[in-house]
Order: sequence, then C-alpha cells, then structure tokens
Amino acid sequence: MDLKEAKQKLETLGQAHLLKWFDTLGDIEQEELLAQIDALDPALLEVFRSRQDAEAQRGKLEPLGALTLAEIAENREHFESAGLEAIRQGKVGAVLLAGGMGTRLGFDKPKGMFNIGVNRELYIFECLIHNLMDVTQQAGAFVPLYIMTSEKNDEDTREFFEEMKYFGYNPEYVHFFIQDMAPAVDADGKILLEEKGRIATSPNGNGGWFASMVKAGLLGQIQRDGVEWLNVFAVDNVLQRITDPCFIGATLLSGCECGSKVIAKADPQERVGVLCLEDGSPSIVEYYEMTPEMITSREPDGRLSYNYGVILNYLFRVDKLVEIMNNAMPVHIVNKKVPYIDENGELVKPQSPNAYKFELLVLDMIHMQKSCLSYEVERSYEFAPVKNAEGTDSVVTARELLRKNGVEL
Ligand code: UTP
Repeated sequence: MDLKEAKQKLETLGQAHLLKWFDTLGDIEQEELLAQIDALDPALLEVFRSRQDAEAQRGKLEPLGALTLAEIAENREHFESAGLEAIRQGKVGAVLLAGGMGTRLGFDKPKGMFNIGVNRELYIFECLIHNLMDVTQQAGAFVPLYIMTSEKNDEDTREFFEEMKYFGYNPEYVHFFIQDMAPAVDADGKILLEEKGRIATSPNGNGGWFASMVKAGLLGQIQRDGVEWLNVFAVDNVLQRITDPCFIGATLLSGCECGSKVIAKADPQERVGVLCLEDGSPSIVEYYEMTPEMITSREPDGRLSYNYGVILNYLFRVDKLVEIMNNAMPVHIVNKKVPYIDENGELVKPQSPNAYKFELLVLDMIHMQKSCLSYEVERSYEFAPVKNAEGTDSVVTARELLRKNGVEL
C-alpha cells in the first residue's frame, strides 16, 4: 500500500490522524506503518462504532450436564485405549495458546518462560511439555505440537525452546505460528499510536488460533499428516493434561463434534465460564452473564444446574474447523490500559483503562459446533492456572497444587 492509498483508506475510516507524524519517520518506519494501515480491518472499527459486541446477543440458555468422574472411571480402559490408538495413528495434534500478554502476572517475558520452581528451575513451558510427554511415552508416539505466539513474544519463545532443547521433546514435532494482531482504539473509536510510526496493537485474542494456523500454511501439513483432532489448551495451567487419551477416546466414541474438559464449580459464585446449551447448541456462558437464578438453580439431585466450568482445554475436529473457518466470530471489546502517543507526540502511560481492544475467544468456537462432550475432570489434579502473582489463581496457589500432585519444586 502506498501513501496515497493509505490516506484514502484512513480518511474513509475517520482515522487520518495516524499519518500525523508520517513525514518525520525514516524509510523503514514509514514502510512499516503503511503495512499496518494496509492490514487494518475496517470491520473491527464498525463493531466498535455500533457496539455490536459479542455479549449483546444471547439465545435461550439451558443447562448441560457432563460425563461425570464416576462415569469416566467406569469406562476408563475403553476410552483410554481408543484415545491411545488415535494418538498412535497420528490423528491427534496439540495446540498451545501462548500468544497472550499475561499482563496480570506482571512478568515481562512470555508466560511460559516463568520459573515456577522454588529450589530448582521449573518453567511453565517445561511443566506442559512434561505433561505431554507422559502421554507420548504411554502411546510410544510423538504428538505434533503447534505453538501459537504473537509478534510480541515469538522470538523469545522460539529462542527459549531452542535453549532448553525443547525440554526433551522431539523438535521435529514442534511448529510455531504467530497470531494476528488487532489495533486499540480510544473511547471515540480513534486508533491509538504506540509510537509516532506505529499503531498500538495487541494479540487479537485466543479465538483467532485456527485462522492464524491456516494463514501460517499449517493446514496443508496437518491434513497431509492425517491429523484429525486438535487439542487446544492454555499456557497457564501447569497441571494441564494434554492429549489425554481418556478424554480423546471418550470424545471420539461419543460422536460429538468437539469435547471440552470441565470442572464442577467450587461454589455457585465461582467466576468461571460454564458450558451450557444456547438455542440447543453447546455454548459457554460467562459468570457475569448469568442471572442470580441461573447461578443458584439446582437439579433434583442437588447439583448446580450450571455446574460445569471450562478450563480452556478443548478437542476440535479439523474437518469441522475447516467448515467454520470462514464464519465470522463474535468480537469482544475489552477496556484496558494502553500506552499511547498524544497529539503533542508525547508518550502517555495511563494509570487506568483508557482504551478498547478487540478479542476473539476460543470459547466462541464451541457454539459453532453442533455438539460437545462435556467431560468432567478432577480440579485438584488438572487445574492450576497461573494468572496472577499472588492471591487466587496465582503462582502461590499453582505451586501448592503442583506439590500436592507430587511435583518437586
Ligand atoms: P488470558 O485470557 O489469561 O490472557 O489467556 P493473557 O493475555 O494470557 O493474560 P492477561 O489477561 O493479560 O493477564 C488465556 C490463554 O489464551 C492465550 C494465553 O496465552 C493463555 O494461554 N491467549 C490469550 C493467546 O494465545 N492470545 C491472545 O491474544 C490472548
């Protein structure tokens, strides 16, 4: 895109201010800014203008039960052997979502590089790879691992895996790809600059993972390799069981289009997204979208009606992902602190949220599937999220849970 085209595009979008400092920039900066302007998605700005964010439109919500711990225990052998068979046949891949900014943790490197060890080094990435290797050792086969990074942390992440020799995993099975970025806007919908020649952007949420994989050219490879299922998981749960054969087998045998690991809520008020039905299709309702009645409603057996919280561990069928890949996903607008260049060219570091970011969420992909196996797991064995430095879901609570699971720190 040349300067004339950029001017035209920005004027149509009411964003001409982005070129205010253009003449003062060096050649490379100018080129980079033009590329960013070229990549701007007008649809996002329209979403902001009309505030059609995802939360606005909800269908009829109803509870969805789960394949319970007891039912899983009864069928464990059967499920596990089906899952192991699929893994041995190379039908299962794993997708590590590691493109987030991890702002709550306040660690300036990729979250996976955080050392959760106490008396020894034990990195979050290392925990995850070890968990995955439990399965690959059991199956006697490696699982392809696709790692999503962002522009902001890609280099650090790749270098770290190299330096750590992939924590013993076979590098031939590890593929990195970079997720898309989205601009931040102020309250009037004006795009912010983080430098005079750079639009303020951040990763566009974890829901863009499949589109970004396709863009990176990985779909062809996945299909050639015969990978039929992708287990998507978050970087921050250090007890995450990845490509868990029992979960995979249960989902395959259920005939469902996808599967989701869930945990029973610790108490009705727990702030967790709950897997339910929306207009008859699987869907995840956030805690703040639930009415007080939904939160406290119970089934005849005493269990909460909206009982099963998601832990960001999903199993998707590749062919179903391909079917929906051109469907628009809901865009979530989130209010955050974003440093920016003001009209005098000064960098401002706001103390409170000043801007809006656009995010796609992986949980919305569940509602794009016809059916989902809700698969219950034991919280204390499988859920130790590292979101904050202290308090709830923190380094402190995750360490405790790791210890309880026999991990030496
Ligand atoms: P979170 O919702 O916890 O976001 O991500 P975050 O950016 O990591 O952390 P905060 O909110 O700034 O503290 C859940 C999972 O989704 C990934 C994260 O890396 C994590 O595994 N994610 C999130 C992405 O891969 N890309 C994104 O744009 C956002």
